[in-house]
This record gives sequence, C-alpha cells and structure tokens, in this order.
Amino acid sequence: MDQHLTVVEHPLVQHKLTLMRDKHTSTAVFRQLLREISQLLAYEVTRNLDTEMRRIETPMVEMDAPVVAGRKLALISILRAGNGLLDGMLELIPSARVGFVGLYRDEETLQPVEYYFKVPERLDERLVILVDPMLATGNSSVAAVDMVKKAGAKDIRFLCLLAAPEGVQRMKEAHPDVPVVTASLDDGLNEQGYILPGLGDAGDRMFGTK
Ligand code: URA
Repeated sequence: MDQHLTVVEHPLVQHKLTLMRDKHTSTAVFRQLLREISQLLAYEVTRNLDTEMRRIETPMVEMDAPVVAGRKLALISILRAGNGLLDGMLELIPSARVGFVGLYRDEETLQPVEYYFKVPERLDERLVILVDPMLATGNSSVAAVDMVKKAGAKDIRFLCLLAAPEGVQRMKEAHPDVPVVTASLDDGLNEQGYILPGLGDAGDRMFGTK
C-alpha cells in the first residue's frame, strides 16, 4: 500500500460504526458489531496481498488457481482493546500468526512503557498487521510500531476503527512507511486524549468495564 491513510467508506462499515458510537448500544451488541466490522476492515487491509498460482484439480479438470503467496500473516494486537479486533480478523484469516504488545502510560512522563511483548518468529518475512481500535494521540501506536520494527518487521500496516488527525499525523511523521486503515477519520482529541466524536473508551465499551 502506498497511500498513508485509507478510510473504509463501505456503507456496512459506516452503519455498524454508527451503532457502535451510540452510547445506548449494549456491551454484547458492541462486541458483536466489532467482530463484524473487523472482518470488513480485514478485507480492506489485505486487499492487495500478493498471490501465486497453485496447480489443483477441480472435480472437472486441472487448473492453475491463485492462493495467497508467502509466509502466514502476523496479526499483532495492542493490549487490551486490540483483542476486540483480533477475534473477527482470525475468523477471516484463520492461519494468521498472532502477537501481543502491552503498553501502559507512565503517569509522570506520559510516555508509553512496555510490559508485554510476544510476537511470531520471522517477522521480517511476514506482512504484519498491528491492530488497535483507536489511533488517538498516536503515542502507543508509534511505540508499538517501533517495537515490531525492532523485532524485524519490515512490511507493517496499522488497522484501527477510529483515527484522530493528530494520531495519523504522528504516525506519518514517525513511520511514513506504515499505512493506516480506518473506518473513520474523526474530528480530533479532547484534553484527556479521547477521540471526538469517538465512541468513548473502546476497552471499556467492549469488556463492560468502567
Ligand atoms: N482510547 C480509547 O479507548 N478511546 C479514545 O477515544 C481514545 C483512546
């Protein structure tokens, strides 16, 4: 992908997103919608994967037919909200390898600090899709990309549900080689770093915590 930002404007994505933004939507419905929307976003983020021809036999004849080329993809979830996107994506790409990045924000420096990192081997030979529903300030997203690059990843895409212009800009400056795919580019951030109009705290909405 060359384009730095792709907003998926498919009507089904936009419809589901509106329901997710609505504060009256229950945890159960939010979770189900997230699963559904993640599959549509996964479809978009994998749109231009390379394919190669494989010789197969249909019940009628032999033919050369396309299959996805190369090593299995790596889906890497930024804990904890990334896991909500992961489940649906794995239904669509069941053979993907999976990794996790855990970051918390240091209250004094406000910088992200790593507390967990486990990723598949040979990241350098895989397409790596980092998933986090919210690209807000971009601090943790940029740190997560730093970490997977350090682990060898070369071909990385960032998938989120909502992006703030601040986060997109931050990612573009820090990692111009990492395309961002999202369902919406929202208006901006409030003082606490929440996306507006947004959908609130994605982790709390999907896990029913406060
Ligand atoms: N993380 C969230 O869960 N929501 C936001 O609006 C911003 C960051």
